[in-house]
Amino acid sequence: GAKSRVTVVGSGNWGSVASKLIASNALKLPSFHDEVRMWVFEETLPNGEKLSEVINQINENVKYLPGIKLGKNVVADPDLEHAVRDANMLVFVTPHQFVEGICKRIAGKIRKDAEAISLIKGMEVKMEGPCMISSLISQELQINCCVLMGANIANEISVEKFSEATVGYRGNKEIAERWVQLFNHPYFMVSAVQDVEGVELCGTLKNVVAIAAGFVDGLEMGNNTKAAIMRIGLREMKAFSKLLFPSVKDSTFFESCGVADLITTCLGGRNRKCAEAFARNGGKRSFDELEAEMLQGQKLQGVSTAKEVYEVLRHRGWLELFPLFATVHEICSGHYPPSAIVEYSDHTPKFS
Ligand code: NAD
Ligand code: 13P
Repeated sequence: GAKSRVTVVGSGNWGSVASKLIASNALKLPSFHDEVRMWVFEETLPNGEKLSEVINQINENVKYLPGIKLGKNVVADPDLEHAVRDANMLVFVTPHQFVEGICKRIAGKIRKDAEAISLIKGMEVKMEGPCMISSLISQELQINCCVLMGANIANEISVEKFSEATVGYRGNKEIAERWVQLFNHPYFMVSAVQDVEGVELCGTLKNVVAIAAGFVDGLEMGNNTKAAIMRIGLREMKAFSKLLFPSVKDSTFFESCGVADLITTCLGGRNRKCAEAFARNGGKRSFDELEAEMLQGQKLQGVSTAKEVYEVLRHRGWLELFPLFATVHEICSGHYPPSAIVEYSDHTPKFS
């Protein structure tokens, strides 16, 4: 059959690493076109050059992934509609707050047979209730959308250190296998589970727990406290996921997307890092300020996710069932001090 054409929608830290990984496989696998297009949200660098042009000249994303060659078959394209037009495999990997706008711009302008996968950790809350990013993509573009989540700190994968990831799919196993083929690598072991909501909620909710873990680090409370916060957080992740989607499987929490991603993010992620600084400053400097200063253009997902989760909890009358999630939002929004993370994050086991 015809070769698949892949476009990566997004070129931040993880977007760039995902492009590198995919590009290396596309070269090796005959059923994929060699060229991998990567949509770049264009920006002008301090020296006046355009980011997409520099990427194409030196094969490196100098702003979001400096020092790493992406592979000669990665082509940066600043024109979104042009970048997606001919692709039948679309990989979405932007900060979650930009997805809806991106989908609205490309709706009706993609191939009818296109398949999508989302690497995006986050959710939207609409009037009708919560909407996962893969559902948003599916609804806006009228296409199927799988997810890929896991213990995947991008900078570590960029230097080819071993890690694992989980593909979540809905019904069609052949499509899931095609995505596994595209991503799987000796240093990136991918497995697929039929639980798209479970996989995506794991990836989304662990960012809220990582904020809590960062507070604990900033307050210098030690390893036992941090482990306790991670355990309580994991319990809330599971309970919340199952209340929203009863089909979510227990086994999903033991995949890379579950406990492994929770651990790596609470140890080495950006959400943890900025939350630590927030607590060290006694909550006096905002997350927006810390994000801009510490991440240089990269984006946090945990603070907005905590707010989105809080809205769902409030609407459904579930606030008392999720004291850790609720407390993270109260701290981020300045209502409680960072120390509240251990004072209010429940101790009674409501879910076993
Ligand atoms: P990032 O945090 O590096 O984000 C910056 C990106 O957002 C840049 O490409 C920037 O150009 C783009 N951007 C800024 N303003 C924009 C706008 N108005 N419209 C569209 N794009 C805009 O991005 P990332 O690390 O690739 O993260 C993308 C997703 O992947 C997130 O959901 C994140 O949680 C997830 N993720 C990240 C990692 C990681 O280690 N970085 C690992 C796994 C998953
Ligand atoms: P941070 O966004 O907190 O760095 O987490 C990255 C991640 O999702 C690792 O899997």
